Amino acid sequence: MMIELRKIDVNLAEKHEEAFDLAEKVISAKRGKPLNSLQRAILKGVWQDQTYEDIAEMTHCSEGHIKDVAADLWKQLSDGLGERVGKKNLKAILERHVQESEILQLEGSLGDERFMSRKRRDCDLAPDVSRFLGRTEELTTLEQWIVDEQCRLVLLLGMGGIGKTALAAKLIEQVHDEFELVIWRNLRNAPTVEEVLSDLIRFLGTRERSDLPSSLDGSIMLLVECLRASHCLVVLDSVEAILQSGDRAGRYREGYRGYGQLFKCVGKTVHQSCLLLTSREKPQGLSAEEGKTLPVRCLQLKGIGLAQAREILRAKSTFTGTESQWRTLIEYYGGNPLALKLVAAEIQELFDGNIASFLEFLEQRRLVVDELYDLLEQQFNRLSDLEKEVMYLLAMKRQPVDIAELQLTFLLPDSRPKLPEVLRSLMQRSLIEKTAAGFLLMPMIREYVTNRLNLRFQHSNGKT
Ligand SMILES: Nc1ncnc2c1ncn2[C@@H]1O[C@H](COP(=O)(O)OP(=O)(O)O)[C@@H](O)[C@H]1O
Ligand SMILES: [Mg+2]
Repeated sequence: MMIELRKIDVNLAEKHEEAFDLAEKVISAKRGKPLNSLQRAILKGVWQDQTYEDIAEMTHCSEGHIKDVAADLWKQLSDGLGERVGKKNLKAILERHVQESEILQLEGSLGDERFMSRKRRDCDLAPDVSRFLGRTEELTTLEQWIVDEQCRLVLLLGMGGIGKTALAAKLIEQVHDEFELVIWRNLRNAPTVEEVLSDLIRFLGTRERSDLPSSLDGSIMLLVECLRASHCLVVLDSVEAILQSGDRAGRYREGYRGYGQLFKCVGKTVHQSCLLLTSREKPQGLSAEEGKTLPVRCLQLKGIGLAQAREILRAKSTFTGTESQWRTLIEYYGGNPLALKLVAAEIQELFDGNIASFLEFLEQRRLVVDELYDLLEQQFNRLSDLEKEVMYLLAMKRQPVDIAELQLTFLLPDSRPKLPEVLRSLMQRSLIEKTAAGFLLMPMIREYVTNRLNLRFQHSNGKT
């Protein structure tokens, strides 16, 4: 009996030590270097149930300083373990992590990197959002859909530069605690669906690459199993990269149709996770499951608020202008943060930060910034011929046009029945807006299209 008790004692002491080691390991990994002597003394002191006052005395530091250093340690531990750690729950949490990892190791199902925690994040590619502004309404809506209503698939749509990626990253920062597993991937370089599936399954599940099913259906089913087994949040950013250009919005590029199957399956099948997609265009085939009370939702992102837009510009430099000039400038760019950032340098360098002079220049309908032109060009080049025609028509009108009027002016009579579909597609691409008075282009886009139109005329005149 004595021997049995001693065994348990030794075992507990070992666990205790292992838990302490785990804390050191997690913090060092986060810092990218070992703990310094003060940090180690604090960790050890707290581990031995000493007060901050005791630790301060022992280390000849002020209590305030000890508290600051400790707060930083708890933050790094919380980030590393994926749950809030503090002085009070330090031991309990670490010992639980050691215990859980032992169980997992016993089951032999998980690799070494999973040792750390049941809550894991792989979001290194998400952008920094420390300067993120506003969007409180959008964040509330998304959080409600994703956390409270447990939607299975959420689409974040909007034109390039409007802030989809930033918003998704901010959202993750707010809700990641609610999920066991969070993974962020970017489709910018158009990986195949097989690559993405095996990547996701390896992170969310327990399989190695070698035992993945060979068929697409099998892999999708396996992913859904992972989404069912754990509460996961998966973000796929820049989905437009796998969508077709020059066609009706939302069709998949050749060789990428598997993504359609994947998205549909994630939207339709019962599981406890969420797939968040950001895209300039809406991928095809999701409308059937989408709706106010259905598990697939779609948020069309508009420009940011005036106050936030001003702040973004102010962070870049100093500008002078009246209230109404600020408003005109921001509205001209539709509150697109990227566009505003791009013109900020121009206003500064060429107009000494004087908004009025810049606006005067804009009046002459010249697009100033090359990068902005490129951004719009990328979007425009993805359009079908019919979509381009509608854009030209709207640019020439310079005011809202209703569908009946568009029908009348619309090119070849054969194409007229396609008009509603073309308009819907352009709205899904966030290139046109619908108001009570009709359809219209945002000023920035209108100027770009007008510019193109002029070039087209010049080109055809030059030819003849
Ligand atoms: N709410 C915001 N607050 C501050 N900066 C923002 C905000 N939204 C977007 N930005 C900035 O605008 C730029 C474009 O945003 P991004 O999210 O990349 O757009 P998208 O993904 O829609 O193309 C980035 O530099 C981003 O940091
Ligand atoms: Mg983006």
